[in-house]
Amino acid sequence: MKSKANGWPFAIGVLVIAGVLFLPMPTAGAVMRIPQRVNPQTLASVLAWFLAAAGFWGFKVRFWPNDRRERRRFRNCVLLLVLQAILLRGVFETANAYHAPIPDWLPAQAWVWVPWFLIPALTGMLLGSRYGIVLCLTGALMLYLLADPGPWPLLGCLTSPLAGILLMRRSLTRMRVLRAGIGAGAVLGMVTASYYSIGTAPMAAISVAGLVPWGLSLLCAFLVLAVLPVLEWMLGELSDVTLIEYGTDHRLLDQLRTSAPGTWCHSLNVADLAEKAAAQIGARALFCKTSALYHDIGKLKDPPLFAENNDGPSPHEALEPQVSAQRIIEHVSYGIELARRHRLPKAFREIITEHHGVSVVRFFYAKACQPLPDGTQPRVNRALFCYPGPAPSSKESGIIALADCVEAASRSVSSRSEPDLRAFVRKLLADRISEGELAECPLTLADLAKIEAAFVEWLKGRNHFRPAYPGTATQAAPVHLATAENQQARQPA
Ligand SMILES: [Fe+2]
Ligand SMILES: [Fe+2]
Repeated sequence: MKSKANGWPFAIGVLVIAGVLFLPMPTAGAVMRIPQRVNPQTLASVLAWFLAAAGFWGFKVRFWPNDRRERRRFRNCVLLLVLQAILLRGVFETANAYHAPIPDWLPAQAWVWVPWFLIPALTGMLLGSRYGIVLCLTGALMLYLLADPGPWPLLGCLTSPLAGILLMRRSLTRMRVLRAGIGAGAVLGMVTASYYSIGTAPMAAISVAGLVPWGLSLLCAFLVLAVLPVLEWMLGELSDVTLIEYGTDHRLLDQLRTSAPGTWCHSLNVADLAEKAAAQIGARALFCKTSALYHDIGKLKDPPLFAENNDGPSPHEALEPQVSAQRIIEHVSYGIELARRHRLPKAFREIITEHHGVSVVRFFYAKACQPLPDGTQPRVNRALFCYPGPAPSSKESGIIALADCVEAASRSVSSRSEPDLRAFVRKLLADRISEGELAECPLTLADLAKIEAAFVEWLKGRNHFRPAYPGTATQAAPVHLATAENQQARQPA
């Protein structure tokens, strides 16, 4: 997959960082390698920075995913790199301006450690641990190019945030962020205490060297939690902490639960399916789970219009198929309108927009295509029965579209046989692919095989057998595989 889309933002970011890091300043020189005037050492540092950036770009083009969401994350990563450079240079300039008075009880160069956990931790929370690790590596490189503080500080500034990032993997709570801060501080404390214990420092100094970085990293963890909402707003990204909040408490979810219980139940199942499938292919499972809860909020406009909320006569019996299809399709545009009104994140709005792609409302299209009483074939404009799209453009969006379709169609499947369920899921997925619904989506065939397996497992679990409680047995439900017709009748909307 080619990746040229972020070439310019990356190149500009690299140049800006070079300027931020290496531009000589009148105060430079006391604790920095960068002197007050450009000299060969500065030029060597600039060259090393460009070479490292070129190497990273080559790695990125070869191995990085390249869907729309990932490109946005990469651009945000470049912005955070610039922020990291500004913060680092700011710390050095401040240290220069005030001659960095280090109290006796602080280990030498303690001021260098203050920002160390902050930017990689924020990056890991907003963009994922892969980007967090990139910021750990660039942070150590920037430190080396700016000040070359020696192997021990470099080791500490590399391993400490890495430990924090690894501790922050998977679903995050605020407490987990604090624990990551404690872990990162413990690693930094161990490195500095080891450094001091090699020399002739007294035990008290070694203890302080171990404890001070620990305290600073914990302070950084509090700072991360304070700054996080601001950066989320500025960059349009969602941390796990925010996703968990959106998944457990929102007025729209309450409305779905009370006004459209069938849709609420469907959304819960889609969220569960999507999370399970996303975890199998390394996509962002928590985002899939949370955003899927909101994918059908547009049905709140008129819940009885949708089969899952209506046990009585269908309102569509009195409507022309084209009108019915348009009313069904409207749940997407109304969902986007509701999402805007309630200030849901942009990423959720993308899921709402794309969850039907450009598919056709099959049931009503088939109904409109039925021969007229005089036997003639009606002329039907297919475009009037199609969702406006666009098609899913990211792995997460594709997974939710597939989960939506499988969950809705599976209502008519009661078989527990794995071959039956596999054949059912495979046909639905094949239909979506043949209709071009996944053409813009970076899901690979290997991904689709894993998604299919995850869906089959989920359906097996849902259709599990239970003996009837004594005295409560009713007529046994027939076990059958859905026919093409009733799958269409249960077409997700
Ligand atoms: Fe749905
Ligand atoms: Fe829908």
